[in-house]
Amino acid sequence: MSQLPTIAIDGPAGAGKSTVTKLVAARLGLLFLDTGAMYRSIAWLVLEANLALDDELKIAELVSRAKIVLAGERVVVNGIDVTEAIRTQTVSGKVSAIAKLGVVRAELVKQQQAIGAQGGIVAEGRDMCTQVFPDAQVKIFLTASVGERARRRQQDLRDRGQGEVSLAELEQSIAERDTIDSMREISPLKKAVDAVEIISDNLSIEEVVETIVAMYEHVVNK
Ligand code: DC
Repeated sequence: MSQLPTIAIDGPAGAGKSTVTKLVAARLGLLFLDTGAMYRSIAWLVLEANLALDDELKIAELVSRAKIVLAGERVVVNGIDVTEAIRTQTVSGKVSAIAKLGVVRAELVKQQQAIGAQGGIVAEGRDMCTQVFPDAQVKIFLTASVGERARRRQQDLRDRGQGEVSLAELEQSIAERDTIDSMREISPLKKAVDAVEIISDNLSIEEVVETIVAMYEHVVNK
């Protein structure tokens, strides 16, 4: 094999993609790419600039000038560290509307493909298997029930000191986001026909990581 394989992981919000992606990348010595952070960064910029969510012209201009740097755990946009700012409920509530815009997706997909051009990457998002890395050697659709994902998000917000949000509210916002992400016209969230589905409700993080590492090793040792 001339270059290192690519692992593509898609799935809905809160299925554990981020945690699993980072652990798999660390285990295998690969780069990890959190493409949600890129959409969140654009949403943050749009909110900061006070642009209307449907002002595609202004948003297109903003995306084309945005410099997003993913440096390990940190996310830096136009020189500003937005690592924490892009994880607030405000950004989470707006990001789906931004992520469905064609002008935003075209630019970010181009950047993601450039980052992954050499392989050796674990990329997570919604359209990694279907659009961005359709030739990835390992393709995963990682999901969990809405209830389980809301519980995890609640714990996550607590751990980050971002306050107490009720399960009902989280379930509603997760379900809304699922609907927007899977109904949108361009690159909707869906399992690629050749992706392996992993339902993580009753699996530990380590079990999910093991499954993906084993799939990767199978491909590499072929
Ligand atoms: O994974 P996340 O929750 O950080 O993603 C934030 C938003 O970005 C979510 O609404 C879906 C969208 N997204 C997308 O449309 N395509 C991707 N490849 C990654 C995320």
